[in-house]
Amino acid sequence: MKAIAIKEFGGIDQLHLIEVPTPKPTSQEVLIEVVYTAVNPVDWKIREGMLKERLPHHFPLILGWDVSGIIAAVGNDVTHFKPGDAVFAYCRKPVVQWGTYAEYVTFEAENVAHKPKNITFAQAAAIPLVGLTAWQALFDVAKLKKGETILVHAGAGGVGSFAIQFAKHIGAHVYTTASKANHDYVKQLGAEHAIDYKQGFVDAIKKLAPQGIDVVFDCVGGETLEESSKVIKKGGRLVSIVSKPDPALEDQGIHTGYVFVRPSGKELTEIGHLIEQGKVVIPTIQEMPLKEAAAAQEKSRTGHTQGKIVLKVR
Ligand SMILES: NC(=O)c1ccc[n+]([C@@H]2O[C@H](COP(=O)([O-])OP(=O)(O)OC[C@H]3O[C@@H](n4cnc5c(N)ncnc54)[C@H](OP(=O)(O)O)[C@@H]3O)[C@@H](O)[C@H]2O)c1
Repeated sequence: MKAIAIKEFGGIDQLHLIEVPTPKPTSQEVLIEVVYTAVNPVDWKIREGMLKERLPHHFPLILGWDVSGIIAAVGNDVTHFKPGDAVFAYCRKPVVQWGTYAEYVTFEAENVAHKPKNITFAQAAAIPLVGLTAWQALFDVAKLKKGETILVHAGAGGVGSFAIQFAKHIGAHVYTTASKANHDYVKQLGAEHAIDYKQGFVDAIKKLAPQGIDVVFDCVGGETLEESSKVIKKGGRLVSIVSKPDPALEDQGIHTGYVFVRPSGKELTEIGHLIEQGKVVIPTIQEMPLKEAAAAQEKSRTGHTQGKIVLKVR
């Protein structure tokens, strides 16, 4: 099969189209014929070697963790899927090597989900990694509840686009940061208040919610994460997906958390149901062919993608 891989860490010139044997599923895995994959910031971070100490890896390393596609074969113990089923998944494996910028990928069946029937393969590829990240941060870690307030940093990005909708769906009140040009977009997704982060968000939030915010979900890191504690209520929660919040905040009554998204077929199925019921919509997607993976990663690297970039594999 054909795949886009790196043979060493580096710039986009390290992305090569390679030919490798099609993998075979183990007894508990499925083989997925990839229709679309998606680009996430983690792809270029891995390519540049930024995560090499943290994630075991092996070269040649096929990038990409999102997939939508069709089941091509199933392992002997797999009962939930059959060849021909349309599926989607977040395919992160313990060793980073066999990714989804490829014609085929194998993955453990329990972490694959049936594709929602009302969306295209291009749309389905835009969901798994970012959808699961938002879900796990809001519900598994922050335990966001109906009636609470949440500030989502980077509401116009891949993760933020889902976080706004999930929070709104359970009846939370959503504040979000985005540049002015994205305010209509984030409001359409369900944000009650859009704050232009270029003007600073702390004063704006203090004016809008003087009592403080229950949950801040940080998808930006750095100064944004540091400043976030200033707008959280005592007893509130600060959850980041970029870096670990300062543990000293616990002494000030702010509970902190960090999420590194894990595959979950169960949660992806729940997200799929919300999409089929029309309760969650797919963010804006920009579609590019797999052979333009380098240009797509450069776009992602600017940090200003609205929604998601997906790559058409076949
Ligand atoms: N730990 C994990 O499991 C995990 C999972 C997924 C993602 N992540 C990380 O989380 C981050 C976000 O991921 P993503 O996929 O959502 O990225 P993304 O789609 O590339 O996010 C781009 C968005 O960020 C917004 N943005 C940029 N700077 C901002 C700022 N200072 N304040 C508010 N918004 C800002 C941009 O909006 P404007 O164009 O309006 O500026 C753009 O819409 C990345 O660093 C990624 O690596 C971690």
